[in-house]
Amino acid sequence: MHFELTEEHLMIQQGARDFAENVLAPTAIERDETQRFPKEEVRQMGELGFMGMMVDPKYGGGGMDTISYVLAMEEISAVDASAGVIMSVNNSLVCWGLEKYGTEEQKQKYLVPLATGQKLGAFCLSEPEAGSDATSQRTEAADMGDHYLVNGTKNWITNGGNADIYLVIAQTDREKGHRGINCLIIERGQEGFFIGPKEHKMGIRSSDTHTLQFSDVKVPKENRVGEEGFGFKFAMNTLNGGRIGIAAQALGITKGAFMRARDYSKVRKAFGTEIMNHQAIQFKLADMNTEWEAARMLTLKAAWLKDQGLDYSTQSAMAKLYASKTAMKVTSEAVQIHGGNGYVQEYHVERMMRDAKITEIYEGTSEVQRIVIARSILK
Ligand code: CAA
Repeated sequence: MHFELTEEHLMIQQGARDFAENVLAPTAIERDETQRFPKEEVRQMGELGFMGMMVDPKYGGGGMDTISYVLAMEEISAVDASAGVIMSVNNSLVCWGLEKYGTEEQKQKYLVPLATGQKLGAFCLSEPEAGSDATSQRTEAADMGDHYLVNGTKNWITNGGNADIYLVIAQTDREKGHRGINCLIIERGQEGFFIGPKEHKMGIRSSDTHTLQFSDVKVPKENRVGEEGFGFKFAMNTLNGGRIGIAAQALGITKGAFMRARDYSKVRKAFGTEIMNHQAIQFKLADMNTEWEAARMLTLKAAWLKDQGLDYSTQSAMAKLYASKTAMKVTSEAVQIHGGNGYVQEYHVERMMRDAKITEIYEGTSEVQRIVIARSILK
């Protein structure tokens, strides 16, 4: 059993940290306030290899392992959780599935520009009436022989307004239930594909979230990913890895809040001494650090299992469940340690507390993670 990171891991971690501190940090508060999508920053992330980290270099990716991905996600999200989710969706929900299940033509046409960061991807599973209950897909992909005709609505779509390539999950054969669902590649600008207004969110406000409408969108059969009826399994298998990405995002938010609280406790004085000298603060920091470490161990274990080719579905659910809960707790404590300053924008921790909440909701709520874990331990 080895707990040390390799030289390469440390280099990737440092590279992500430098990028986050030099490029993302200066505009993080402004982008949160104005809900500005970090287009230029995402372009740079693509150039640095952060948008297709685990993709084979022959398709333009970085050929890195999932541990490297977790480390980079943590560093990026420690500074800017919005950039973190943009990166996570592209890497684990779009590139991963295309590489694993796509045809060679799909990989050349879609994966290469996504992995190199020239194009951005979105993953479209959720619907107004199919959130946690994801098998209840209403969006229809009618089989028209040589193509599908897609009609329906998707919502809560991360990257929805800025993506170029959308993986859309839709029902083809209702009688077959979840085995009658397909995953289709739809491109921005296709006739009948409309992008609705941007949601005004509590957190991760610099990432964009939209409702999408499909009205008689014609999708050629060669744009189906995987076998006929594989779409739901495609989504579930993809989300197993996505949950590692969101756990890593939660680790990053935890790290950002913990570091800021620790540093603040060394300079802020109360009752004649720096507040770090008060046991009330020491105990909070000790708990925060311990929980961050525990969440890290779970997340790195899930990443390691994936890299070994072993089953990681339960471990990724555990990692996301625990890391997101930790992010909520640690960000709240960081605000508390900052007192009144924690409640205002310039100290960053109030943004981190708002950003943390979504990690308990998207890519499967905490309740869904418990379903996944319970089913695996009770089967
Ligand atoms: N991995 C692989 N397969 C899985 C799976 C997993 N984690 N969970 C379920 N499946 C498979 C089951 O094995 C089953 O297949 P078989 O019938 O062939 O055995 C099939 O999927 C259906 O599963 P269930 O019968 O268990 O279905 P269910 O309706 O009882 O529950 C669920 C399924 C686990 C609750 C599932 O619907 C689920 O995960 N819901 C949450 C969806 C989700 O995570 N949405 C996030 C949206 S994406 C997002 O947030 C992206 C973003 O923009 C940031």
